[in-house]
Amino acid sequence: MSDSHARETTAILHARGLGKQVDSGERRLDILTGLDLDVFPGESVAILGSSGAGKSTLLGLLAGLDAPTHGELMLFGKSLASLDEDGRAQLRAGRVGFVFQNFQLLPTLTALENVLLPLELTPGKDHQARGRDWLGRVGLGERLDHLPKQLSGGEQQ
Ligand SMILES: Nc1ncnc2c1ncn2[C@@H]1O[C@H](COP(=O)(O)OP(=O)(O)OP(=O)(O)O)[C@@H](O)[C@H]1O
Ligand SMILES: [Mg+2]
Repeated sequence: MSDSHARETTAILHARGLGKQVDSGERRLDILTGLDLDVFPGESVAILGSSGAGKSTLLGLLAGLDAPTHGELMLFGKSLASLDEDGRAQLRAGRVGFVFQNFQLLPTLTALENVLLPLELTPGKDHQARGRDWLGRVGLGERLDHLPKQLSGGEQQ
């Protein structure tokens, strides 16, 4: 096996020629074209660019929340194009976390319930204890039963 093949198969994220085109009125808009990216275990990667450059669009594609119009994309060695929405959710469960630009908290659920929601897709027990523990670690141990509107902007994030 060649070195480049080994790297390709161990990448957590592997994108080649990734593109996203949208129809915007009369015009076709190329938001992303020909993007190549590999991310390996233990790496930290920051994506920088001016407002409107396409960062959120790219992150949506890499997470399988949105579909590319061009190119190939593998997450944990699996082609995202080969999976339906449930399959992509299963692949992400327990392994991919998001902090959205707007936090996507459900307004009728408490802080603890919001944290526990994605864990329902994850097998295992002690979810309650894990959720309480993690909220405690970010200083929200006294805010478990607060609704999002009863939290500050930073606490919501
Ligand atoms: N569905 C869509 N239809 C038309 N244009 C879109 C669509 N989605 C995004 N765009 C345009 O694509 C560009 C990239 O948007 P994106 O949200 O990815 O930018 P960004 O880099 O995350 O910007 P910011 O730093 O402001 O968050 C923007 O110019 C936006 O107006
Ligand atoms: Mg953005």
